[in-house]
Amino acid sequence: MAGSDTDAPPPRIDTSRPHPARVYDWWLGGKDNYPVDEELARRILAVDGSVLRGARANRRFMQRAVRTVAEAGIRQFLDIGTGIPTEPNLHQVAQQVAPESRVVYADNDPIVLRQAQALLRGSAEGGTTYAHADVRDVDTLLARAAESLDFTRPVALSLVALTHYLDDEPDGDDVYGLLKRYVDALAPGSHLILSQVTPDLNPEAVGKAAEHFRRGGTPFHPRSLAGFARFFEGLELLGPGLIPVSGWRPEPQDVALQAEGIVPVYAGVARKA
Ligand SMILES: C[S@@+](CC[C@H](N)C(=O)[O-])C[C@H]1O[C@@H](n2cnc3c(N)ncnc32)[C@H](O)[C@@H]1O
Repeated sequence: MAGSDTDAPPPRIDTSRPHPARVYDWWLGGKDNYPVDEELARRILAVDGSVLRGARANRRFMQRAVRTVAEAGIRQFLDIGTGIPTEPNLHQVAQQVAPESRVVYADNDPIVLRQAQALLRGSAEGGTTYAHADVRDVDTLLARAAESLDFTRPVALSLVALTHYLDDEPDGDDVYGLLKRYVDALAPGSHLILSQVTPDLNPEAVGKAAEHFRRGGTPFHPRSLAGFARFFEGLELLGPGLIPVSGWRPEPQDVALQAEGIVPVYAGVARKA
């Protein structure tokens, strides 16, 4: 594991309130969650029946997007808001295309840190490291990533299903300013991979789900297509552009997921010229 993660005492896992990584884990059928997480996951499922296939659709988008950029020649990956490991993880997809790929995972949840060893079993030729860091601490996170990645060369930066936990207030999380700082740090030829919950496709269900998240102590900010598009300003969108998540370069399983019903999540991939 990289840097100070090994030196500092492990952060405490708070089981008194739900955490996004653990709620998402419950939706994916994982075992790394606690009764408080299950309770919130079930409450949200009751008002938005799409969340189980939404979580699956989102994982599948990450895999297709990573494969796409790896096949385009990207060999360095920075994945922020990694989540609890599920197979295949991002490094497995990237290193299947090119074993020498280097991957840095980052998340701020102590339970993801505890699971980090499972994320670090990469190929012998490549490198896989984990940074326990908050996306809002841009300088620290980039410095940690630079211990493994060469930022003078292209990097794929992924924030998959993370930005809806961040607000866009200039004196708050300032999510657009935040993303810009990350993109500014990337070399030409780098890629941005994003997905985010939207109210556009099912406003009532998403509104209720967001309310449950907030009551559970997790800020939640669904964004319209225009709001999602702002993340990609100045970048070249890869086809088919910004689109509901299962529609992004779908494979047969994604077409099947689409047929099951709407998933209120937008996805997109763009290249920095
Ligand atoms: C819904 S999960 C998505 C996991 C994975 N990217 C995927 O799509 O399968 C969101 C992840 O973002 C992480 N996260 C939330 N806020 C964060 C922050 N401020 N800094 C770093 N990670 C954060 C959570 O801990 C969680 O693991």
